[in-house]
Amino acid sequence: MATRLLVCPPTHYSVNYDINPWMTRNVGYSAPDAQRQWDRLMETFTVAANVQLVTIEPGEHVPDLVFTSNAALICGNLAVLSSFRHPERRREQGLYRIALAKAGFATTYLQQTYFEGAGDAIFDRVRPIMYAGYGWRSERNATLQLAELVGCRVMPLLLVDERFYHLDMALCSLSSGHVMVYMDALSPHAQTQLRRTIDPGYLIEIGIDDALSFACNSVELDDAVVMHSCTRRLRERLNHAGYRVFQTELTEFHKAGGSAKCLTLRLDEGPAIGIAAATA
Ligand code: ARG
Repeated sequence: MATRLLVCPPTHYSVNYDINPWMTRNVGYSAPDAQRQWDRLMETFTVAANVQLVTIEPGEHVPDLVFTSNAALICGNLAVLSSFRHPERRREQGLYRIALAKAGFATTYLQQTYFEGAGDAIFDRVRPIMYAGYGWRSERNATLQLAELVGCRVMPLLLVDERFYHLDMALCSLSSGHVMVYMDALSPHAQTQLRRTIDPGYLIEIGIDDALSFACNSVELDDAVVMHSCTRRLRERLNHAGYRVFQTELTEFHKAGGSAKCLTLRLDEGPAIGIAAATA
């Protein structure tokens, strides 16, 4: 079955304001090569795997709408819409709500808290766990509210490095059971939690070079992993885990602090049915 991804063409994408350290140096940048890089990313997805792209209409005053990973957390047929921390992105919520309702989802949102969707909430692909990042954008309270909605264990992970302000920039869960992670972006307690949960052989710890080229912000599609770039060492590690690695340039989007995975929202998503749950 095709993997459905929600995407938004970068027609109105540019760096217009400053809400993360990547944007700080780039306010006013018009990203002239964005359309070409985005087109190639979409092409890579379709070459790499069986995908169906579901498009949301770009809007003139919402440049960051391209980062559809922040539209919502998808859990079965429910979309838990983002409640954006920064006013600059709040007007996206209504547009994502309409697009997701049109795609057949029931929509809701968390009360009295900030929560930035799949950017901060990541289901483990094999263990019945959801990793929930908080600190810069989403709040800890959001992770607690999610526990009531998603029907699996929620593991709150505090993010401590502002360059990695969403969890999907520091952690990527793969269907092979591997979890790719840049540990220094997480608090010591969060690191301990992960080490306790994931067998060392399944933890792919990446270095700062790969982290800064957004290697954790990868899109897994069947046996392919699509990303901006990575070191030879990481590529070989992923090959060893059974993946083909596709690299495609996304520098225009890095200027606003996002990469491959931020530019997508997987529409078929929900808690993994772990061995224990499956046999219960
Ligand atoms: N400029 C956007 C922001 O600061 C980038 C979002 C990146 N998205 C992500 N899922 N990491 O909100």
